[in-house]
Amino acid sequence: MLRIDEIRRQFPALQRQINGNAVIHADNPGGTQVPQAVVDAMSNYLLHRNANVHGEFLTSQLTDETVEAARGAMADLLNAPSPREIVFGNNMTTLTFQLRHMLARDWTAGDEVVVTTLDHDANYTPWLTLAEVGAVVHEVPLAADGATLDLATLDDLLNPRTKLVALGHASNAVGTLNPLDEIIPRVRERSPEALIFVDAVQSVPHVPVDVQALGCDILVCSAYKFFGPHVGVMWGRADVLDRLPPYKVRPAGADAPDKFETGTKNHEGLAGVAAAVDYLAALAAPHAERRARLRESMALIRDHEQRLSAQLIAGLTAIPTLAFYGIRDVERVDERVPTVAINLRGWHPQALAAALTDEGIFCWSGHYYALNLIEALGLAPDGALRIGLAHYNTAGEVARIVDVLKREALKRDTRA
Ligand SMILES: Cc1ncc(COP(=O)(O)O)c(C=O)c1O
Repeated sequence: MLRIDEIRRQFPALQRQINGNAVIHADNPGGTQVPQAVVDAMSNYLLHRNANVHGEFLTSQLTDETVEAARGAMADLLNAPSPREIVFGNNMTTLTFQLRHMLARDWTAGDEVVVTTLDHDANYTPWLTLAEVGAVVHEVPLAADGATLDLATLDDLLNPRTKLVALGHASNAVGTLNPLDEIIPRVRERSPEALIFVDAVQSVPHVPVDVQALGCDILVCSAYKFFGPHVGVMWGRADVLDRLPPYKVRPAGADAPDKFETGTKNHEGLAGVAAAVDYLAALAAPHAERRARLRESMALIRDHEQRLSAQLIAGLTAIPTLAFYGIRDVERVDERVPTVAINLRGWHPQALAAALTDEGIFCWSGHYYALNLIEALGLAPDGALRIGLAHYNTAGEVARIVDVLKREALKRDTRA
């Protein structure tokens, strides 16, 4: 079991109050809060290690050590075979556009790419722009449940001309976890040449992510979604990275990962990335290996969050004037992360988010860049209210979110 009180004490942001209420962070899919240890690591870097890389003097050597520590930490978190397979960048979106430009260098007209309706736009538009080099872009639609992918159509779209399949691991809007263990072997079978790209931005904070078990080629995530600073991370299998032609300046290293990391990296951010991974590892009982601790921590997080999901879904779906989008069966919480999208009758989602803020409940409203999904659900342009939990949220917080929404629902119902 996670020791939630102990965990919450490590996050200064979780101590805030608004109008006498303890703030509830249910805005986690947009960015998580940061433990003190991450802030300390970043300020320690700037105060005592600050330099550029590969110099002969102490602070530069400490900077090299900081970068290597961050690569090692991410390799452990994602179970990557080697830290050399970890590439850092500004954020997931920028890394994805960089990859798109590199891939386009040797694409030819008629090459095919498969994207999905369930994805965040950062795993959609970069690939759509491959049409500029003559690529044919196919989209896997939602199944009739409006929450999962239509896998029969995916099968039909795959063929030997498919060069890239861009999949999300978890939806940032409705929380669906795609069954990648089922999907990736199907892609390999039908499209053996295809590069399989996974957007794991919304799964890494919630579930164990193991690139070797998944069997994908490239996987991206963002540290600010897993209790770290604003740094993007791309894992690529060594042979895939070796083949990619980078856009780089001449003096930059010729090999992965250096060849992809244009210009000076965010060193203090990397110090924070390593500290965020160490924070996660410390949630488990001490073992010799950080990888083993991380596996255990993520299993503990998953367990706690599944209970929160079940409580939240049961509470919300009992409100008669509430529309719930996504997997609503509490028996299927293992098919989702604790992110839900809802609307209340009589409320504009933005107005509802503002009303919740007055109660100290922080939530996002709108489309959260999941443009295709929001359109497919018929919710554009207003979108929906998104409640996204993390492991530091409590059953008490979930109960309060449900109570406040019940009250707001009743208010509008009597006025209507
Ligand atoms: C699923 C998903 N993919 C990609 C992104 C974009 O990540 P970044 O902000 O690092 O570019 C987000 C951000 O919310 C996201 O939720």
